[in-house]
Amino acid sequence: MYRIGKTLITEEEIKKMLTEVSDKINKDYAGCDEIFLIGVLRGALVFLADLMRLIKIPVIMDFLVVSSYGSDTESSGVVMLVKDVDADLEGKHVIIVEDLIDTGVTLRYLRNMLNTRNPASLKICTAFDKPARRKVDLTPDYVGMAIPDKFIVGYGLDVANRYRNLPEVYILEEN
Ligand code: IMP
Ligand code: MG
Repeated sequence: MYRIGKTLITEEEIKKMLTEVSDKINKDYAGCDEIFLIGVLRGALVFLADLMRLIKIPVIMDFLVVSSYGSDTESSGVVMLVKDVDADLEGKHVIIVEDLIDTGVTLRYLRNMLNTRNPASLKICTAFDKPARRKVDLTPDYVGMAIPDKFIVGYGLDVANRYRNLPEVYILEEN
């Protein structure tokens, strides 16, 4: 069984991180006609919804769904695309928006797949990053916050699809 432990990231800290990430994006893409945000469901939903409202460049968005079979808190390392984006990415300035990068396997798979569609540019933006857990070479372009090697829930992140609605980020404890 799991239970919610200590708060790791407060609502205030999340707000600050959103401002920092959106400021960088607004600066980097200033003068761009449009950016195409691609959210990785389901975890990125909350972050994407907050982030897009702070972006001043016109935004279009879509979602894709991936799954990686494994236990509740360990990824299997095998990524499956469950739902692809509908739109053509050719010539678009694409930013993949993710909740958390752990081993990096999911994002490496998505980056390689989306790169074959000839976007004008392709960047990766993640709310949270666990750099100590990385197994493949993957460096996100925008990181809200680096976090220690702890399993976290809340702010879109889940265990077995629970706790996504919590407004803060908590450490998950096992008992
Ligand atoms: P990666 O492919 O190992 O980088 O795994 C990334 C995915 O695993 C993320 O999209 C998360 O959904 C999930 N994940 C990794 N660590 C956590 C965590 O601490 N809490 C909730 N989900 C996590
Ligand atoms: Mg996810």
